Amino acid sequence: MPDQAVLAPGLRGRSLVSIRDFSRLEIEEVLATASHLEGHRGDELAGRQIALLFYENSTRTRNSFVTAVHHLGGSLCGFDSAEGTSVQKGETLYDTIQMFSAYSDAIVLRHPRDGSARWAADSASVPVINAGDGKNQHPTQTLLDLYAIRGTQGRLDNLTVALVGDLKYGRTVHSLSDALSMYPGNKLRYVSPPSLRMPSEQLSSLRQAGVEWSEHDCLEAVLDEADVLYVTRIQRERMPDETEYEKVRGAFRLTAGMLRKVRSSLRILHPLPRVDEIAPDVDHTPYAFYFQQAAGGVPVRKALLWLLLGIGERA
Ligand code: CP
Repeated sequence: MPDQAVLAPGLRGRSLVSIRDFSRLEIEEVLATASHLEGHRGDELAGRQIALLFYENSTRTRNSFVTAVHHLGGSLCGFDSAEGTSVQKGETLYDTIQMFSAYSDAIVLRHPRDGSARWAADSASVPVINAGDGKNQHPTQTLLDLYAIRGTQGRLDNLTVALVGDLKYGRTVHSLSDALSMYPGNKLRYVSPPSLRMPSEQLSSLRQAGVEWSEHDCLEAVLDEADVLYVTRIQRERMPDETEYEKVRGAFRLTAGMLRKVRSSLRILHPLPRVDEIAPDVDHTPYAFYFQQAAGGVPVRKALLWLLLGIGERA
């Protein structure tokens, strides 16, 4: 269990909407706290309730928050789909956030609209944690991605990270790029079909931050130099029409046979779910780390709740 020395008092009562809301020091506090909380079970959240408001489908994010709250002895309210809620009667996000501000000590929100989490955080009276807003940001995924990268590479700087797949609509790659650009010496390699490149405003930010990056059409161009290969799914549900999806489906498929000349320290990450972009034969290579990465979601989300709710701080 963390002692006072690893707590970040500055995080108490804060929201997490974009990974840029946290400084490097604050990110590192979350990761250090997650390490301490790996096997922890306690009742530090007894008497506190966390609202999980999921307007979009989720397996990992929602259930790792559920598990984190259970491990800390808290209770839960909310919904895993807007079906069956008063959203169907026309209730606005603003009104829903007012209600769950009254019912809970923190709100975890997943919503299909870009910017919805910022809107919610600005109108809530409790901390709001963005569990994914449209194609914009997914900062808690980034925290667990960083936890996996640090755990496997021993550092978060001076790495070559290849981000592969749907870079246009992929909120996980947007957040992870932002985070990696805070650390010196990282080289970012973006691999995607031309129609799914990283948004230009994101590339401009990298330029301003002096980050080395490049764009590529094929995986083979980056495999031999990568420390981390971060593969993502082409997101059919975010495409404006089926024709755009059909043009890019199956654009990349990583197979075990493609990994013959990679660094021995390479680790393959994926936010999951995967569809067909990583062949099952990759799972049995020493490079696959996506299931362990996802498992890290529990201690990381425990740590986030711990710090935002000020557990362990002296009054
Ligand atoms: N990585 C992630 O956000 O997965 P879920 O959509 O299953 O929550």
